[in-house]
Amino acid sequence: MDYKKASTTRRILVVNGKGGCGKTTVATNLAAAYAATELQVALCDYDPQASSHYWAETRNGSEDERPRISSLASFKGPNLRETLSFSRRATEGCDVIIMDAPCSAVATSQFEDLLRLCDVIVVPVMPSAIDIRASKRFITDLLTHRVYRARPRPIGIVGNRINLPSANYEKFEQFLACSGVSTVCHFRDTPVYSEAADDGAGVIEMRENRAARKEYRAWHSLTSWIDEQTLREQGHTVPARPRAAGRKTQPVANEYRDNA
Ligand SMILES: Nc1ncnc2c1ncn2[C@@H]1O[C@H](COP(=O)(O)OP(=O)(O)OP(=O)(O)O)[C@@H](O)[C@H]1O
Ligand SMILES: [Mg+2]
Repeated sequence: MDYKKASTTRRILVVNGKGGCGKTTVATNLAAAYAATELQVALCDYDPQASSHYWAETRNGSEDERPRISSLASFKGPNLRETLSFSRRATEGCDVIIMDAPCSAVATSQFEDLLRLCDVIVVPVMPSAIDIRASKRFITDLLTHRVYRARPRPIGIVGNRINLPSANYEKFEQFLACSGVSTVCHFRDTPVYSEAADDGAGVIEMRENRAARKEYRAWHSLTSWIDEQTLREQGHTVPARPRAAGRKTQPVANEYRDNA
């Protein structure tokens, strides 16, 4: 089955209670990765810092011919309920809806509403001891949250800013294995992410950049995993994979689009 072309809406929540772990970086790069496959993408920024909204405005105002991404300043609005219903209407017809969450505890009404809205949850985690500790706490709170338990969604962990094998992250993987959650892919720690952010681009669009090209395979793993999980959530039959799309199981992508 061609997962990319299958008619389905992917509602992706990018979240972690830990600040600065890469939520906006993952949300914006995911938006660019999906837009490169000619899907209609909406990026909803629920964080008053407005970083992903700013990224999308930079992108859409630039002269570069990049696929357009609809950007919603979802943090604005009279109240949360109205904002959510506005976001729902404004993203109608989109193939991919990416929600960039603020870092907040799981016990907030906004978090609960975002949880209800999504089909898949993506959690970026950095390998420092402080990040791992906070992320473990967040994942435990998420797995035991009543809204999550009422309708468990697939959770994909993405290791972020990981260059070398990390003892911290390996221990974290053991914790994940016990929790029934797995890492989908790792992104390297490379300045190409801030270069892309400054430019309103995604790393998969930086074809001339060697460091960016090294990241393609991980982004392909993440979009493939999301596509499969969303289809499963929506009742389609998806052939089993050996593991959740790990880096080693994916083909090398010279051009992201060739693989997408
Ligand atoms: N893989 C990476 N390599 C290098 N720099 C990165 C990487 N991922 C994120 N960064 C940088 O780390 C900083 C924080 O990332 P980002 O804003 O995405 O985190 P966040 O979780 O959205 O933060 P907040 O909690 O404030 O919303 C940014 O300057 C970003 O460019
Ligand atoms: Mg952010």
